[in-house]
Amino acid sequence: MALRNIRELGDDVLRKTSREVKEMTPKIQELIEDMFDTMYEADGVGLAAPQVGILKRIVVIDVDDEHPLVMINPEILERKGSQTGYEGCLSVPGKSGIVTRPNYVKARALDENMKTFIVEGEELLARAICHEVDHLDGKMYVDFVEGDLVSTVSGEDEE
Ligand code: NI
Repeated sequence: MALRNIRELGDDVLRKTSREVKEMTPKIQELIEDMFDTMYEADGVGLAAPQVGILKRIVVIDVDDEHPLVMINPEILERKGSQTGYEGCLSVPGKSGIVTRPNYVKARALDENMKTFIVEGEELLARAICHEVDHLDGKMYVDFVEGDLVSTVSGEDEE
């Protein structure tokens, strides 16, 4: 198990556009394992590679601690409905804010074997997919938060 340092708001790397992954390598496999370790250790439900300083289009998500999901080069294909609620980010520790997101998304990505798959998500999973894909384009939820950031009650989800 290896933990990586989570970059925080204000770090330039979080504002850059990540590059597509062309092939799986041992180094990227290790990165993905470390991203899961780092996310679980921080009690997060999602983490994107730029949050650990690596500008590659890779995200890991697990909204219920039972369904780890790796998405490489993810692309959102469909968005439906909307949900408005509190959202947090491991790169903005201790804070959360209200963000409106689609209530359903369908996305395509590559898995750790570079095989294409489709994932559909509702509610928290839809929110997490949108949040993490935004990170790959240098976008953070604080850019479109509705109202002020508030201090997070411990135990809330952070992405
Ligand atoms: Ni985040």
